[in-house]
Amino acid sequence: MTHVTLTINGEAHQAEVEPRLLLVHFIREVANLTGTHIGCDTTSCGACTVLINGTPAKSCTLLAVQVNGAEIQTVEGLEQNGQLHPIQQGFFEEHGLQCGFCTPGMMLVGKALLEQNPNPSEAEIRRAISGNLCRCTGYVNIVKAIDSAGKKMREPAATGAPTA
Ligand code: FES
Ligand code: FES
Repeated sequence: MTHVTLTINGEAHQAEVEPRLLLVHFIREVANLTGTHIGCDTTSCGACTVLINGTPAKSCTLLAVQVNGAEIQTVEGLEQNGQLHPIQQGFFEEHGLQCGFCTPGMMLVGKALLEQNPNPSEAEIRRAISGNLCRCTGYVNIVKAIDSAGKKMREPAATGAPTA
């Protein structure tokens, strides 16, 4: 057994695990965060995508021990203080999901893209999600959802007038 500590959505999780434990199983079964899905277990579908130190990665492709000490973000970490993240608002408003199975991975890939490239072209969005499959064939609305989230993230932050 090997000791692994991961920070997931800002919270430390540690456990003694088998060296062969996949990161996705650490997230789902040790941290009990089941928003990260398993679609194929063979690096094909992207349903298990999380952000590792801000970069999208397929968590069925990594062992938990390989990322010991990393900062992981999962779909559960998008909402903050009851406020949906713009990427969640984008998927909601643009009907970017049907069954929702691919959605956590799609949203995390979209978020990472917009943080690197705040105003991506359609081609850049399509390239970013090219490792993530949607079996409901909802790509048109997924692209619109990420584009919409980018527009929201580019809006100047509400300043709020000072109160007298
Ligand atoms: S479950 Fe990881 S890529 Fe499909
Ligand atoms: S919404 Fe069903 S797999 Fe994408």
